[in-house]
Amino acid sequence: MSGREPLLLAIESSCDETGVALVAGGRRILAQAVASQIALHAPAGGIVPELAARAHLRWIVPALRDVLESAGVTIPEVDGIAVTAGPGLAGSLLVGIAFAKTLAWAHQLPLVGVNHLEGHLYAAWLLDRDEPERPAPPFPLVALVVSGGHTFLVEMRDHLAYRLLGETVDDAAGEAFDKAGRLLGLGYPGGPAIAVAATGARRRDAVLPRAWLGSSYDFSFSGLKTALRRQVEAELAAGARPGTEAGGRLDPLRVAELAWGFQEAVVDVLATKTLRAADETAARALVLGGGVASNVALRGRIAGGAAARGLPVFIPPPDLCTDNGAMIGAAGWQRFVAGERAGSDLGARPAWPLVRPFGTPDTRRPPRRGPAARAYEAALAAERDAAGDVPVSVPGEGAR
Ligand code: KG4
Ligand code: ZN
Repeated sequence: MSGREPLLLAIESSCDETGVALVAGGRRILAQAVASQIALHAPAGGIVPELAARAHLRWIVPALRDVLESAGVTIPEVDGIAVTAGPGLAGSLLVGIAFAKTLAWAHQLPLVGVNHLEGHLYAAWLLDRDEPERPAPPFPLVALVVSGGHTFLVEMRDHLAYRLLGETVDDAAGEAFDKAGRLLGLGYPGGPAIAVAATGARRRDAVLPRAWLGSSYDFSFSGLKTALRRQVEAELAAGARPGTEAGGRLDPLRVAELAWGFQEAVVDVLATKTLRAADETAARALVLGGGVASNVALRGRIAGGAAARGLPVFIPPPDLCTDNGAMIGAAGWQRFVAGERAGSDLGARPAWPLVRPFGTPDTRRPPRRGPAARAYEAALAAERDAAGDVPVSVPGEGAR
């Protein structure tokens, strides 16, 4: 290697964005492309898995071309390929995995399968192409991942080592935003729509319930969603009171007030628990990731609490909070450095948890040999069976 940082080509297709990126040294984004499917799924008000998979197939090659051209890099100059292997929609994952495996096989490049949630977490390590160098997040740290499908809080004392502090017991934070968006008649996805609507609230006194769940770090948002639904129904039933429009819709100003109240309730619980976790684990930094981390109110609350404690906080810019390829390059890099390699049998793992459900919740790097390694492999196989993994074969290899 000629003194330059090793380069990973990273591919993400787990949900409704096709992401491709070139990441140097696990941090520096040389180029990236994200083909969003928001407009495609908006009419249905939610992701249609079959449409998502087809759209990945349609956009993955143009996205790769775009990235290679804008970085002025050819595939043989790449040192490895990282691809999201789960969790996510099976059909969508399969497109990225088959594509990555084909490229790796054709160009004889090492391949690594990446957990999408680990990607959201490592987005905080990324640097934009022209951004000045800055230190990486120091350990130990507390990280909150809030996406459309997952919400959890972990302590990290080292790379790739997670101690699960808490997670949602029902809806993910993003899912709650999306459902609330539908209840309020706002567009899809609900998160950004609620954030925008909330800025228009004149009165900021709508109080919706918070589920604190005692002293635990777990989250619950389904009661909040039900409370919002009851509130909307009650106000509509009250008929032509101020605040309702003919046709059974709340007027936009009332929608804004309820959107504000809903966002406030979610942000309050997320921020309070994250900051308490930082205090109780004596964290040296806070990390945020996932689509909901692009929420301005949440970013502000966490940043304010962190500043009051003198803690550095690492929150990616909004376009790196939502799904993208670069974050897979950042997490994939850590896996590469740890010596992980995927074979041509890499399959989609639609329900792959980040923190593995065996032994203690404190997951360390996978043991490489001996009885511990065999126990680890057995636990993985059991987890794979339970999650209904989908094998993928690469042209020319699958038949052998
Ligand atoms: O991480 P992500 O892009 O995809 C998943 O892995 O799920 O997260 C998407 C989620 C959606 O639920 C969306 O409504 C939410 O992130 N989201 C937001 C905001 N932007 C995206 N939620 C609240 N405020 C936002 N500004
Ligand atoms: Zn995501």
